[in-house]
Amino acid sequence: MKSHIESLLEQTIESFKQQGIVPADFQARIQVDRTKDKSHGDLATNLAMMLTKVAKKNPRELAQLIIDTLPASSYVAKVEIAGPGFINFFIDDNALANQLQQALTSDHLGVALPTKQTIVVDYSSPNLAKEMHVGHLRSTIIGDSVVRALEYLGHNVIRQNHVGDWGTQFGMLLALMEELRAANGEQAKMELSDLESFYRAAKVRFDESTEFATRARQLVVALQSGDEYCNKLWREFNDISLSHCHDVYKRLGVSLTRADVHGESAYNADLAQVVKDLDAQCLLSESNGAKVVFQEAFRNKEGEPLPVIIQKADGGYLYATSDLAAMRYRSNVLKADRAMYFVDLRQALHFQQVFSLAKLAKFVRPEMSLEHTGFGTMNGEDGRPFKTRSGGVVKLVDLLDEADVRALELVRSKNPDMDEATLTEIARVVGISSVKYADLSKNRTSDYIFSFEQMLSFEGNTAPYLLYAYTRVAGIFKRATDIDLSQAKIVLEHEKEKDLGTKLAQFGEVLTRMTDKGLPHVLCGYLYELASEFSSFYEACPVLAAETEAQKQSRLLLAQLTAKTLKTGLSLLGIETLERM
Ligand code: ARG
Repeated sequence: MKSHIESLLEQTIESFKQQGIVPADFQARIQVDRTKDKSHGDLATNLAMMLTKVAKKNPRELAQLIIDTLPASSYVAKVEIAGPGFINFFIDDNALANQLQQALTSDHLGVALPTKQTIVVDYSSPNLAKEMHVGHLRSTIIGDSVVRALEYLGHNVIRQNHVGDWGTQFGMLLALMEELRAANGEQAKMELSDLESFYRAAKVRFDESTEFATRARQLVVALQSGDEYCNKLWREFNDISLSHCHDVYKRLGVSLTRADVHGESAYNADLAQVVKDLDAQCLLSESNGAKVVFQEAFRNKEGEPLPVIIQKADGGYLYATSDLAAMRYRSNVLKADRAMYFVDLRQALHFQQVFSLAKLAKFVRPEMSLEHTGFGTMNGEDGRPFKTRSGGVVKLVDLLDEADVRALELVRSKNPDMDEATLTEIARVVGISSVKYADLSKNRTSDYIFSFEQMLSFEGNTAPYLLYAYTRVAGIFKRATDIDLSQAKIVLEHEKEKDLGTKLAQFGEVLTRMTDKGLPHVLCGYLYELASEFSSFYEACPVLAAETEAQKQSRLLLAQLTAKTLKTGLSLLGIETLERM
């Protein structure tokens, strides 16, 4: 309840800022405390006193203004001004208890569903020329978690895996496939089991042999003009590369399927039209033979205009061109109200430019929201981008293998007598969820340091902590199977019951905040707080040894709702729960 009141006060300050009552850059330190004497309500704040200086009003006058501006909340039974300008809040515990009771039996834990939207989520989107590496982890799991939460809230979500399956690098890959096939026949298939070295080998051949390079260029032209032989080779390559991706998705528990793949090549046939339409609107300029668009708002540090390149002098199209075509498709064919792009923040300028151009050229409906939900870099413990010891890119598969090994060690050390099969299964869940949770729990906009030690710790905001907390809550029921809860009623009496109840009631608003901005760390933080709130409750309030039968049942219901909320929350992060660990 404390944080609920804090958030009401934060909103009040926001509206004070809009009305100019306090300066827009004012940093309020909002303090809400539990009252000692219940005749003063449950919670109190000294906010009015804190604001007197900046707002130049007396505290009682301000207190009244705060009360008048405070958003309505069904949990607040009464608000009063006391003494020099304290504000006292009286919590309606019955309203809270009723809400929780309903949450237990409702489909969505009582979460109020928003107006349904069609939302395109562009995520994962690796380049198929290479194998998935750690750089693809963030987009894949952050995107997947937001997708799950949006679907939970009832939206029509369209996953788009905008894979890089087109472009000049394919010429050199196809040339190598061709060469190996001529030399080794079917064995060449095997070479593709390691895409990373295949790519490197192709690059070496491309750089050392002009003949090879010429053949590679011919193959690109042939591919783009629809040559059947080239297309067959290309499909074979992509098929193998995609199956690598889907192995990784499966292992990560990511919900993408082959049907969600809609890569750059899917827009190939629309690109000429994009150029024509830009031309018809007189938006194109020439720059060194290339067709480009200049927009007023985009300039470099020297103040020179920054172009979006649409078509190169040799006729080739670019990344931006297929993104323009993709936006048109997402707006006009998929009818998206909103499109979210989970892509590295290093592409921020690209997205600003193409979003603004798509609106300018009316490629998307004016009301469609285009959002680059970008993320920072995953760094190693030295604070530099994560690399192998020899400085190479870390393949995602290798990273997950290491997580497995480390998790197995950890789980074995906690359960020396457990059989091997159970250990392995628990370790699989702990390993994968630790990697995922470590990423999801950081604000996506910042860089973060990847550390196996931290992510596998049982202390702090980590997957092992939460998975363990869940097993503890779920464990209570294992000892209470004979208790009939069909007539049980939640009653909030103890301080800690009220605190836990208040936290539980916030699940819906947390999901709204998470999906509005595409920020899974908001949900992680909430689940962590919920687990901690449950621990304090469990310490202070005996459940199975409660004083009365009614109290025991009420507390069991609270535990049940906590378990459900933790499990649901973790599942929206794409994390499986365990019954024991
Ligand atoms: N394939 C690109 C890359 O690896 C990411 C694509 C993101 N999506 C998009 N519509 N541009 O950098």
